[in-house]
Amino acid sequence: MLLALQCLVIFLIFLYWIRSKNKEFDKIPRPPGVLFLHNTLDFLSDTVPLFYQFRMLSNKYKRLFGIKLGPVNAVFINYPEDIEKVINGSAVSEKGLMYDFVEPWLKQGLLLSEGSKWHKRRKLLTRAFTFSIMSTFKSVIVENCQTFLGKLEKEVNASKTNIMPFIEDFVIHSICETAMGTKLDEEDINFGKLYREGIYKLGQCAFYRAQRVWFHPTFTFKFTEVGKKQEDILKIMNSFRDRVIQSRRKFYNNNKTNIVNDFNDNENDIVQFNGKVKMPLLDLLLEAEKDGVIDEKGIAEEVDTFMLGGLDTTANTIQFTMMLLANHQDAQEMIVNECNNIFGSSDRSATMADLAQMKYLECCIKESMRLYPPIPIINRKVQQTLTLGKSITII
Ligand code: HEM
Repeated sequence: MLLALQCLVIFLIFLYWIRSKNKEFDKIPRPPGVLFLHNTLDFLSDTVPLFYQFRMLSNKYKRLFGIKLGPVNAVFINYPEDIEKVINGSAVSEKGLMYDFVEPWLKQGLLLSEGSKWHKRRKLLTRAFTFSIMSTFKSVIVENCQTFLGKLEKEVNASKTNIMPFIEDFVIHSICETAMGTKLDEEDINFGKLYREGIYKLGQCAFYRAQRVWFHPTFTFKFTEVGKKQEDILKIMNSFRDRVIQSRRKFYNNNKTNIVNDFNDNENDIVQFNGKVKMPLLDLLLEAEKDGVIDEKGIAEEVDTFMLGGLDTTANTIQFTMMLLANHQDAQEMIVNECNNIFGSSDRSATMADLAQMKYLECCIKESMRLYPPIPIINRKVQQTLTLGKSITII
């Protein structure tokens, strides 16, 4: 019986091996790995060593390299022309396997949805991200910046401070009070802390799963310790999200008109877009629900997508920019000079026009995102033959 089982396992592995063979993929350089398993066990290390491992592979193979995790053939491309071809081309429009591991949190929100659902939602949600809507959020951002700076000021003489919790606090307040239209009260703030920690832990769960090809199928992952931990974290995060939605829904039901104006410095300035009143994200979703365009589940998935998509990326960008400025005092000086030229001796808060003049600061933020991209990998599935340069074919 045991022998038969062993034979069956070996046969299945062999079948798996035959099926995952791909002549074109085999022409792409890749780390050797071991027979049958290929690179399956090569990437089980922690995040920091793994980061170096991938940097080393990119340095070694330059333009592109492959890795083979069980049946999964993955090609990592680094050249801007190749990336452009993938991003703009139709051969690679489907989201890749990595996105399956964040699906339990983001569901079918804008980041993961495809086809007509994506088009409809994108068209709807674009209305919440226009320049004039952003301008109405200025006062909220200024207030949160002042709170953030006040907290940092208290740390000036400390020998060592982890600034990330302060940054995350600033970002979560800013997203909730702008896109979601919800001011966080004391209880929400504690929930918010759990939410922030939750994002970090969910990242770890997704990472753990991505590294282990045998946990890629949901039916194997959900029974693991990590799979169960993910479920528990999601329960906490969902309840924070529901609080945010409920709070705004209550406001919306009580103030059916001019809901955009509670953000607006100028009460008479109802912002229009293609003849429609423009609204912050959550108001727009609630309005669309009233029109039958989206349901409660749809609102929840979009709120999750925008909260999770907006929080970590922005917080990391601020953190890396601050780290680089701390290490490059000359750049700090240039930013101070730029601000002095704009504000002179006034301590007024910045206007949108002032922000447009902060060219050097903008360059610093862009340079920090180039050096430390908050989203370092974009993953796509190849649906049709893709040719890169003259000789590389990916099928
Ligand atoms: C520095 C900050 C940010 C960076 C670097 C960043 C990066 C990215 C990247 C690379 C994608 C494309 C992913 C893919 O197609 O596979 C993306 C999509 C997306 N991001 Fe961001 N993001 C940032 C801030 C934000 C913020 C603040 C929000 C929400 C308020 C947000 C919400 C989204 C959404 C909803 C998508 C999906 C868009 C679509 O498919 O139509 N992001 N982001």
